[in-house]
Amino acid sequence: MSDEEIKKSDPTIEQGAASDEQIQEVHSVLLREKREPSEGYTPMPLFLLGFVSSMIFIVSIYFIHYRGGLTEGIGEAAMIYDERFDPKLHGGAANVVKEVDPMVAGKKVYTQVCATCHQVTGSGVPGVYPPLAGSDWVSGSEERLINILVHGLAGPVEVAGTTYNGNMPAFGKGSAYNWGDDRISYVLTYIRAEFGGGAAPVTVERVTELREGSSRTTQFSAEELLALP
Ligand code: HEC
Repeated sequence: MSDEEIKKSDPTIEQGAASDEQIQEVHSVLLREKREPSEGYTPMPLFLLGFVSSMIFIVSIYFIHYRGGLTEGIGEAAMIYDERFDPKLHGGAANVVKEVDPMVAGKKVYTQVCATCHQVTGSGVPGVYPPLAGSDWVSGSEERLINILVHGLAGPVEVAGTTYNGNMPAFGKGSAYNWGDDRISYVLTYIRAEFGGGAAPVTVERVTELREGSSRTTQFSAEELLALP
C-alpha cells in the first residue's frame, strides 16, 4: 500500500493533511450509517395503547362487581368503613348491619385498651393497678361498675382485700375517650363473663340510662360508689 492509500483508508492518520474530498467521503459513510437526530415525539406503540385501554376497561368491570356497596346511596356509602358491615349479606342494600357479639367486641376493646393496665389475664399489677379477676366491683353492682367506666375512679379503693390508690380515666361520652354507650356495654359484658364469675351482661340501654341520668363531670371516689345501689 502506498502512503496515499493508507491515508485514504484510515482518516485518523494525518488528519491535518486530509483534503476536503477525503473529509466528504468519511462523512458520507457516517451519514449513511447513523440516523439524523430529529426533534418531536414518537407516538406510543399501538399494542401498548391497546393494553392500557383494556386494563382500564377490565378494572372498571371488576370494581363494579366488587365495590361492596361503596356507590349505593350517598349516606350509606360510609357503611363500608363500619366494622359491623358485612358486604356478603348486603344483596344490593348497603345498610345491612351484622349483629354484634358483645363478647367478641368486648374482648377486642379489653385487650387493646384495658389490658395495658389491668393485664390480659385481669390480674392487674400489684400495688399499681388493681385486679379485675376476683374483684367485687366487677361481679357486683352493675350501677357502680358502669359509673367507674363512664366517669372514672380516683383515690383509695379496696379490691380483693388490698387497698389501691390510683387513677382510672373516664371513658364515657364527653370524656377524653368519648366512647359510645355500646362500646362500654360490650367491654363490661366481657369482663363480667371473663373475670366476674359469669355475672349478668350489661346492656347498652342501661349504660345510656345511667349516663343520661347524671350530670357528673368528675371521677368517682370509692366512697361515693359504695353509696350507690
Ligand atoms: C391507665 C390505666 C388504666 C386503664 C387503661 C384502665 N384502668 Fe381500670 N383502673 C385503673 C386504676 C389505677 C384503678 C384503681 C383506681 C383507684 O385506685 O381509685 C382502676 C380500677 C378499675 C376498676 C375497679 C377496681 C377493680 O379492680 O375492680 C374496674 C372495674 C376497672 N378499672 C375496669 C377497667 C376497664 C374495663 C378498663 C378498659 C375499658 C380499664 N379499667 C382501663 C387503671 C386503668
